[in-house]
Amino acid sequence: MSSESHERILPAGELHEFVVRLWRCAGSAEAEARLIADHLVSANLAGHDSHGVGMIPTYIRSIAGGHLQINQHARLTKDAGAVLTFDGQKAFGQVAAREAIDAGIERAQRLGLAAVGLHNSHHIGRIGFWAEACARAGLVSFHFVNVTGDPMVAPFGGSDRRFGTNPFCAIFPRPGRAPLLLDFATSAIAFGKTRVAWHKGVPVQDNALIDAAGQATNDPAVMHEAPYGSLLPFGLHKGYALAAMCEILGGALSGGRTTYTETLQTSHDAIFNCMTTIILDPQAFDAPQMQAEAEAFVEWVKASPQSGDAAIQVPGEWEESNRRRRERNGIAIDRSSWNEILNAALEAGVPADELARYR
Ligand SMILES: NC(=O)c1ccc[n+]([C@@H]2O[C@H](COP(=O)([O-])OP(=O)(O)OC[C@H]3O[C@@H](n4cnc5c(N)ncnc54)[C@H](O)[C@@H]3O)[C@@H](O)[C@H]2O)c1
Repeated sequence: MSSESHERILPAGELHEFVVRLWRCAGSAEAEARLIADHLVSANLAGHDSHGVGMIPTYIRSIAGGHLQINQHARLTKDAGAVLTFDGQKAFGQVAAREAIDAGIERAQRLGLAAVGLHNSHHIGRIGFWAEACARAGLVSFHFVNVTGDPMVAPFGGSDRRFGTNPFCAIFPRPGRAPLLLDFATSAIAFGKTRVAWHKGVPVQDNALIDAAGQATNDPAVMHEAPYGSLLPFGLHKGYALAAMCEILGGALSGGRTTYTETLQTSHDAIFNCMTTIILDPQAFDAPQMQAEAEAFVEWVKASPQSGDAAIQVPGEWEESNRRRRERNGIAIDRSSWNEILNAALEAGVPADELARYR
């Protein structure tokens, strides 16, 4: 572990064991603790620190507030053959989404396609993680997600927070290669990225935030200190339109709730996600040239003359290169986030003397 003052660098394996221990102390069964650790550390490895171990303090506060339920499971509420609906029962999203997605994968492999509605689950984290499970099984998937009742994003043309950062995700598996993966929030930046910037004391990019008066700002504090501002949707009206469809397809179609006065959460720590997932077996299509066509396109776009220093990438490549680098060099966590995580570990019941070596 590095002792640099501004950050801690931990090997992924050591961080994983730390997270398992933390959730075991908090009361999770071994399998649950491992699912949470797998998910969070994998988000850090992919480069999405906003959805990695930095979420732990929020989860601990959500448990303390009576929102997130330890050792709870998803419950199948309707089986319509190719369409399954699950109530996440406020379980860890890492558990509820695992159960829902595994069931969807099994159905899609049997039928050629399946849709899974999951509602009332606690935070399901980095959506790419669920898409990657589908791709590992050789399947294509699409995911529409909402964050019920915790508005942070202003509608295009509006000036206050009305809906969540509603991510959209799609994956295309490539045998022997990393899948093509689109996975992003429909806000200009993910909320977690404002948390990371706030902890680091750095501004965020232009056109991502407005303050409480509706004025443009780069200060991430407007998302963390009252009076609260809002995130903006990405891509003007187009990002807003996609966010709205994530709210309806993710929130309403899955059997869950959308965001309006009656569904507003009283706590920012209670993050409830709904997700509608569509899973397709590419083998069910009459498209023997599918992989060759995908590769030809990838090669074609990469042949575009570069306009700047950054190489042309395809969706998912950014995560792959982070993964390779972080598996080799370890995961760096800024000191402020790490201290918060250690305090949460103490609250979870990890003995203080055990935590001393991590300080
Ligand atoms: N559970 C929730 O409620 C929730 C809410 C919002 C976001 N999220 C998660 O937060 C994470 C971060 O979201 P974000 O909006 O910050 O993502 P982001 O802005 O970092 O975008 C990531 C996407 O862009 C692609 N990408 C990056 N650089 C690229 C390039 N040069 N060329 C082509 N593609 C490129 C990546 O492969 C990936 O598909 C995601 O994993 C998302 O699922 C979860």
